[in-house]
Amino acid sequence: MLSQETKSIIKSTVPVLEEHGTAITTVFYKNLFDAHPELLNIFNHANQAKGRQQAALANTVYAAAVHIDNLEAILPAVVQIANKHVSLGIKPEHYPIVGEYLLKAIKEVLGDAATDEIIQAWADAYGMIADAFIGVEQGLYEKAENQANGWKFFKEFVVADKVKESENIVSFYLKPADGSHVPAYQAGQYISVRLAIPGEDYLFNRQYSLSQAANPDQFRISVKREADNDPNGRVSVYLHEELAVGDAIEVSSPAGEFVLDSEKDSPVAFISGGVGITPMMSMFETVAALTPERPTVFLHAARNESLHAFDRDIQNHLATMTNAAYKTLYSDLPDGYITRAVLEEFVDITGDVYVCGPVPFMEAIIHELRAMGMKEQQIHFEFFGPAVALRTV
Ligand code: HEM
Repeated sequence: MLSQETKSIIKSTVPVLEEHGTAITTVFYKNLFDAHPELLNIFNHANQAKGRQQAALANTVYAAAVHIDNLEAILPAVVQIANKHVSLGIKPEHYPIVGEYLLKAIKEVLGDAATDEIIQAWADAYGMIADAFIGVEQGLYEKAENQANGWKFFKEFVVADKVKESENIVSFYLKPADGSHVPAYQAGQYISVRLAIPGEDYLFNRQYSLSQAANPDQFRISVKREADNDPNGRVSVYLHEELAVGDAIEVSSPAGEFVLDSEKDSPVAFISGGVGITPMMSMFETVAALTPERPTVFLHAARNESLHAFDRDIQNHLATMTNAAYKTLYSDLPDGYITRAVLEEFVDITGDVYVCGPVPFMEAIIHELRAMGMKEQQIHFEFFGPAVALRTV
């Protein structure tokens, strides 16, 4: 427990830290990686290059500190981040390292303004926040390891097949190298892949949604090829151009909270933009397999026909379902957007909606769904990349 005095120091200094947030986290990451270059095997270098992860980690520490009296209040956010951490193999021993460099960065940027008292208060608060994460992560690791065919951290897989789905999306079928099966997962979950790319000093990690319903034989991920000059493209270009059938790749256990409640039979709508279709495929296939009579809508936005993945698969599932509708809109064509009118025509606002796609796409769709009267608990969404705030109000 933190003392009242510590809590009041934390609360009064949060605004100061937020004001200097970028400076503190820039110093933090630079010093952290200078002292512990091995951590570059875990962190996403592209996020570093764009300064995105900097903001995510620090903002969360500050947000958690504000709720230090009642960390329960931010548990959903902790669980979501913990899933990402577990998928990346973050261990309890990493926390003191991050804590040490965060505190040193606060001291370095604030100088004399950061008194010993203030630094001690933040050390105590960080310790409590770290313990909350470590506890949740331990539970997730145990769950992953104890399920049938489960494991924790990374496991070696091989590429069993590679299938082109559209002009820029390729699916990879991944099987455990030891010939075993893969665990059952919830539709919508993701895995991390870890790769050594020839000529690069550090390993690369990326998360990809599983893009088919749980299947004991294999995982499937479907990867969009990013532009050559995008730092994020390093991995997707390598996967598209170099990684071949028979090659090895390391894979983590399925994780993530953006999942279909497959027990329900109430109306459900899947709304995706571009490669955001991948978790939807897993969810849609699961509905088709388990509850084919469930009222289901699949709305997809693609730029044009050549970039439109999975059309035939969706049509095949539709043929086995009794109450499902599917519509794709091409934004290169006039009226090619999922507008309010399209949503009103297709979405049953008494049910659940799952949304995945680029951030502006999701902001627009979520805004409309709320305006149509849907409640927070009915709207489920996930965006790719670090948790940046969505502007959906
Ligand atoms: C991702 C917070 C500790 C490594 C994240 C994200 C947040 C966050 C908000 C983004 C989540 C998302 O993308 O959905 C925190 C907080 C920590 C903490 C509040 C301490 C209490 C750590 C530690 C490590 C770590 C100890 C390992 C040394 C990572 C990595 C990512 C990540 C590798 C993925 C993003 C990237 O690679 O850029 N964390 N984190 N974090 N965190 Fe943490």
